[in-house]
Amino acid sequence: MDKNFYITTPIYYVNDRPHIGHAYTSVACDVMARFKRLSGHNVRFLTGTDEHGQKVEKSAAVAGVAPLALADANSQHFRDLTGLMNISNDDFIRTTEPRHISSAQTLWKKMQDNGHIYLGSYSGWYSVRDEAYYQESELVGGKAPTGADVEWVEEPSYFFKLSAFGDKLLELYETTTGFIGPDTRRNEIVSFVKGGLRDLSISRTTFSWGIPVPGDTKHIMYVWLDALANYLSALGYPDTDTPLYKDFWPASLHMVGKDIIRFHTVYWPAFLMAADLPLPEKIFAHGWWTIEGEKMSKSLGNAIAPKALVDEFGLDQSRWFLMREVPFGNDGNFARERVIALINSDLANNIGNLVQRTLSMIAKNCDGVLPSKGQGADESISVDLPKLTGMIEECHFDKYATEIVRYASEANEYIDKKAPWTLKKNGDVKGMGIVLYALAESIRKIAILCQAIMPDASAKILDQLAIAPEQRSFRYLNAEFALIPGVHLEPPQPVFPRFLEKAA
Ligand code: MSP
Repeated sequence: MDKNFYITTPIYYVNDRPHIGHAYTSVACDVMARFKRLSGHNVRFLTGTDEHGQKVEKSAAVAGVAPLALADANSQHFRDLTGLMNISNDDFIRTTEPRHISSAQTLWKKMQDNGHIYLGSYSGWYSVRDEAYYQESELVGGKAPTGADVEWVEEPSYFFKLSAFGDKLLELYETTTGFIGPDTRRNEIVSFVKGGLRDLSISRTTFSWGIPVPGDTKHIMYVWLDALANYLSALGYPDTDTPLYKDFWPASLHMVGKDIIRFHTVYWPAFLMAADLPLPEKIFAHGWWTIEGEKMSKSLGNAIAPKALVDEFGLDQSRWFLMREVPFGNDGNFARERVIALINSDLANNIGNLVQRTLSMIAKNCDGVLPSKGQGADESISVDLPKLTGMIEECHFDKYATEIVRYASEANEYIDKKAPWTLKKNGDVKGMGIVLYALAESIRKIAILCQAIMPDASAKILDQLAIAPEQRSFRYLNAEFALIPGVHLEPPQPVFPRFLEKAA
């Protein structure tokens, strides 16, 4: 098995501040990165900001500041988002950094030296909001298919010979299973490419906020070519002779939203082929969130700031909601009442209640000492790690969360069935101990699994079970690392309080 794993978020535009859509992509990548680390992989996790292009330049003009000043301020907000959401990224790249500029320019030169770039002129529609070119035939009522405004552009431009890559791309989709996920997106892309590809305009001359085209500084690079190169820049490209590059390129997974799948599964592999570079292994597109049934938008002013979510509901509660609420890949709706319902049903009443009941019985009835497990195997839940791994590999984060809930329900049913309080009342202290041991061991396993989604809360539970920090990876799920009877446990602290609406 290849133990190196390189995962990336899209890099976020700095025209605006982070909202929960951005937090969603980052948390999903973080769950994947943490899961892989817990499985023993050597993980590299990249996020960052996309700072060039007309959209950022225009927003800066509206704000009356220089583009770099806007980029500096908003990039910092995205960096703060990683702290706020407890994102475990190893690097944060900005496309205005020298390391990225030289990498993007080298990529360009490589594509050019290989004969895939020519000078021409572009006339057609462009959407600044989408940073995308559209055919006349794609427009719907004079707008981009996304609903964004378009403007007519006529200017000298370098072109990338994308039209020459259609067959190679189709072969890629055909031969590399899972290159595009989920399948519905794959089918969309296959039919798009089958429809025929046109050469792509990859430079602009009518504004200046971008990376100069090598050898022709009247042009700046098309922001998507610039942005996509970030995945290489952060590994030190063009220096390909370093452990960082050798260990982590090609990327294992580029996670993206459904709106940017075409850039990642058509343009990006074609650019890489043109530069003779290896291709990423997988691109997975998640769906979009609406807010209480409405599209999230600046004009409606309904975007939810991740900080507001975390402040009201708690960090791990917010991460749990984002991963558990919607089948990953589908669109989802953010409704406050659903956040509260999930916090109370999954976390407070199920996982939290299991932990609280078990640990307080041990504290009260066993002097805080973990009782003996009795003869033979204990009766703790059995965890199907290969099944859970399959779910994460398919990016079914919601199924993973649901499976954890199922384990907790199983343990709660066990406690109700065995009724350790009755055993105690009847004087069967040994029997009670065996049940409490099995429950504590089930909790240990559940908390180990929860670490990928809820790192802080899981750490609190594992601390309460006196598990050493270096014994919390998935390897320790094995029975040979089960809890050791006789260990002293501190009195429990509640981990998942019920969420109560404040009286108005
Ligand atoms: N800068 C480009 C990406 C370049 S990657 C080489 C970009 N940036 S973005 O800030 O507009 O979007 C970043 C990510 O946030 C995308 O994956 C997008 O799908 C995601 N989301 C933005 N709004 C969203 C929702 N309402 N819901 C879910 N995700 C959303 O695109």
